[in-house]
Amino acid sequence: MKEMLAEINALKKEKNAVILSHYYMPPELQVLEKAGGIADFIGDSLGLSIEATRVEAANIVFCGVAFMAETAKILNPGKRVFMPDIKAGCSLASSITAKDVIELKHRHPGIPVIAYVNTYAETKAECDICCTSRNALKIAASFDSEELIFIPDVYMGQNLQHTLAEQTGKKLILWHGRCEVHEQFTQSSMSALELMYPKAEILMHWEVPQETVASSFKNTKGVLGSTNDIIKYVGQSPAHQFILASECDLGATLKGTYPDREFITPCIKCPHMKMNTLQNTLMALRAMGTPEEEYYEIDLPEDVMNRAYIPIKRMMDFV
Ligand code: 13P
Ligand code: SF4
Repeated sequence: MKEMLAEINALKKEKNAVILSHYYMPPELQVLEKAGGIADFIGDSLGLSIEATRVEAANIVFCGVAFMAETAKILNPGKRVFMPDIKAGCSLASSITAKDVIELKHRHPGIPVIAYVNTYAETKAECDICCTSRNALKIAASFDSEELIFIPDVYMGQNLQHTLAEQTGKKLILWHGRCEVHEQFTQSSMSALELMYPKAEILMHWEVPQETVASSFKNTKGVLGSTNDIIKYVGQSPAHQFILASECDLGATLKGTYPDREFITPCIKCPHMKMNTLQNTLMALRAMGTPEEEYYEIDLPEDVMNRAYIPIKRMMDFV
């Protein structure tokens, strides 16, 4: 493994590339180069989008899933964006197409459409604004409209709806997408853990089903929010033990950041995120500048990039 890490870091310099890595990556892809790993930046989806706009290198290797790498490309059309495996998808992103959004808009004329960033570029291109789990509430609350269309995560939409209704009285029109990882945190699986670890607080992502959220927070303290909210919450909580209701490998960052705390991580992994490995990261870097590079590079039609840029830029203006 040491040799592979060294070759990746040498190739990054030779090929003028940086590695951006999501918190759901396998742990070995979540270690910064300065700490002995290969990543130049580790973040949630919004953090990675922000970082993508600050990159000076000509090439980005995106260790995440395709909708994230597309967003990095759209924000940086002059840079080349590569992925260890460009087939790394997402059950949310593939649940809705551009045509579906056009039909939704016909059915609900004049209602603004908020696209969770977990959508493909063509779908984003039909929407008014994007959001991530970190800024969804703020963005939804900023609209004057009493009704909003939120796509594609039905569970995140229901959770947002609950908080928004309390704060603003707004109503969300939802799609039926689901994250195949977070939907597995059912009421019964969480109740069992809450029984086994009665002193633990709960760290729960917005994408978990609403009935689980309702039952878990009835008796137990914790946070419902984005990946970033979860990481920050632990730092502010006096609790020692936490149950993580999110992607298993976020546990690596949590354990690294808070070595004195204990994390119960039911090990549900995103199969798309796990398509990234040290081996194919190395292969992507080796391929750069050779005819093989086309198998690793994000390539989007110019017209789609230009149209998807508008809702993404509106979201970035909220940061
Ligand atoms: P965030 O990084 O925005 O929390 O998104 C979570 C997720 O499921 C990414 O696929
Ligand atoms: Fe998509 Fe869920 Fe995987 Fe994130 S964790 S990439 S939302 S399937």
